[in-house]
Amino acid sequence: MRRLAVRSLVALAVLLALAAAGWLVKSWYDSRLPGTYSVMQFGKPDYGGAPPELHAHGEHFRLSVADLKGSGETPDLDVTLTAQKAKVRLDSGKTIDALTFDGHVPAPEIRVKQHQLVRVTLVNRDIAKGVSIHWHGVDVPNAEDGVAGVTQQAVMPGQRYTYRFRADQRGTFWYHSHQFSSDQVKRGLYGAFVIEPPRRPASTLDLAVPVHTWGGRQVFGTSDDATTRTIPPGTTVRLRLINTDDLVRTFELSGVPFEVLAIDGSDLNRPTPLRDRTLELGAGARYDLGFRMPKTAVTIGIVGAKTPGLVLGPSGAAPAPPHPPGPIFDPATYGSPVASALAAAARYDRSFRIDIGRKLGFLNGRPGYHWSINGRLFPHTPMLVVRKGELVRITIANHSGAVHPMHLHGHHFLVLTRDGKPVTGTPWRVDILNVRSGESYEVAFRANNPGVWMFHCHNLPHAADGLMTHLVYDGVTTPFRVGGHAHNHPE
Ligand code: C2O
Ligand code: CU
Repeated sequence: MRRLAVRSLVALAVLLALAAAGWLVKSWYDSRLPGTYSVMQFGKPDYGGAPPELHAHGEHFRLSVADLKGSGETPDLDVTLTAQKAKVRLDSGKTIDALTFDGHVPAPEIRVKQHQLVRVTLVNRDIAKGVSIHWHGVDVPNAEDGVAGVTQQAVMPGQRYTYRFRADQRGTFWYHSHQFSSDQVKRGLYGAFVIEPPRRPASTLDLAVPVHTWGGRQVFGTSDDATTRTIPPGTTVRLRLINTDDLVRTFELSGVPFEVLAIDGSDLNRPTPLRDRTLELGAGARYDLGFRMPKTAVTIGIVGAKTPGLVLGPSGAAPAPPHPPGPIFDPATYGSPVASALAAAARYDRSFRIDIGRKLGFLNGRPGYHWSINGRLFPHTPMLVVRKGELVRITIANHSGAVHPMHLHGHHFLVLTRDGKPVTGTPWRVDILNVRSGESYEVAFRANNPGVWMFHCHNLPHAADGLMTHLVYDGVTTPFRVGGHAHNHPE
């Protein structure tokens, strides 16, 4: 009798162990990505509370990403960028081995006037893994978005690809490769992209400064030393800071009161002078700062960095003495509000919720504690489905223990609330929302740019670790695939 009981217990334990092992093997097996796949293949469509598309037009129309090209008219600006390996010399004399556009790090700054038509031809000379160019923050037509495996094929050595779009937004943007981006951006395939107002005031010094880390040193443009730039007193300066790193960077500007004129290429309404605020830029974010040059030097640097950054001043001026870092600048309470349909909408056509967490599991067969979206690991993360013209709201909550700069391609979010509190200052529009752990934001946008758009963390190794999903317009599909003979690896 007892022996029988022991036996059945053992049998039960064996069964349970087998079931657990089976479950593990199945989760491992299910997590493995095939050699080639569509980014739309696994994501579970999320309709944001609205009924799934009923095909109001009566037909199952299908639009390919590849058909969503920019205008083919004669461009106002025609640029060729050649991706190539190069040794680059920083201001200190130190040389770095980089992946570059045209042999430079940062890549050549591209400046256009608002509404100009831009044509950029990307040529890959010798980057073996292929390249692409994503126009970060510029809401281009989908086929010009530069994501290998989503909107185009990776451009392999000897190949070329042409981008065309109209520069309709005025502001500070940047461009970078979106092929193996977690590796290629870090190694130098990035540059500033500035869209100027049609007429720029002649007396303004307009300076775009991509900030990047090379070998643990923060480099402002090409300056890894306290490079002094001579600027006569009285000059109006617009300093466009671009955080091209994977992590948040905290800047301080000393020596002059300044205003934050724009964030992510959107002007702020009625900015007021700030003195001792530190500026926290999420990975990929841009802040435009405005001030008038005093008779003494102005210094811009990263709080706690070994390198002093950039000194602007009359010739021979000593760097401005650093002051103790002040409170962090908060866009939610800065400047003045402007009424907008987006913020005032009583109802949104679709409301999504993105909960960022962590989960034990397999990511493409790799066991680990991975980033999750709504409890799911990539590629099984929810795919947000919208229709053109709709008003969309997304709640983004972060429970993961780490900060995530969430970036949506092709659109800008208007930030409505943070931790339930409405934004009371200027309209705060971003393409990167730096969401700290424990925070929750509500953002809104108008779905006005059809396509298949990446929505991912701009700490690019996090994206490569699966913290990504897509915003998909109903009826739009992509013919491109990740992996396979096209060698597409967007992250
Ligand atoms: Cu600046 Cu998807 O990236
Ligand atoms: Cu992240």
